[in-house]
Amino acid sequence: VGESDANYLISLIRTIPDFPKQGILFRDFIPALSDSRGLGILLDAMEKTLPVPVDQFDLVAGLEARGFLIGPQLAAKTGKGFLAIRKEGKLPPETLSQEYSLEYGNARIEIEKSCIQPGQRVLVVDDLIATGGSAQAAARLIEQAGGQVAGFSFVMELNGLKGREALGSYPASSLLNMP
Ligand code: ADE
Repeated sequence: VGESDANYLISLIRTIPDFPKQGILFRDFIPALSDSRGLGILLDAMEKTLPVPVDQFDLVAGLEARGFLIGPQLAAKTGKGFLAIRKEGKLPPETLSQEYSLEYGNARIEIEKSCIQPGQRVLVVDDLIATGGSAQAAARLIEQAGGQVAGFSFVMELNGLKGREALGSYPASSLLNMP
């Protein structure tokens, strides 16, 4: 990604102090989607910086809700299908479920029990990695369903929260490092 494109994209990230809780610097990438140039830069850059080559994954998974805004678009761009990893209580049975803690609370995510063919390789997409809790939970879900985690692709990585370490040896890429 060229420097001017990267700077343009960064200029479209909205930062909100003390949201949703005191002490959290909330990073909102929605303005990058509203901007036609920003959206183009974002999707092209994600495709160019995939953590693994395009022939090394079979499905793109997105985490509800912000992973749903980019995952299907990246799946279409790379010629894959999309798998929705949903918040608790949205999917009919049978589901697989994993709990995790995030930068500001606890949550549970779910997938349909038979949504992955044995051995399918899944690239997980989300807008942001903070502590890595949701990404780790997504990896556990995919493996519990009989799939393999090909890697992770994020728009933003929050520095200082050790999200990368939480991902262990899974390949991961992020477009923007945010203080
Ligand atoms: N999710 C976890 N931490 C976040 C942050 N600082 N901004 C936006 N989304 C988040």
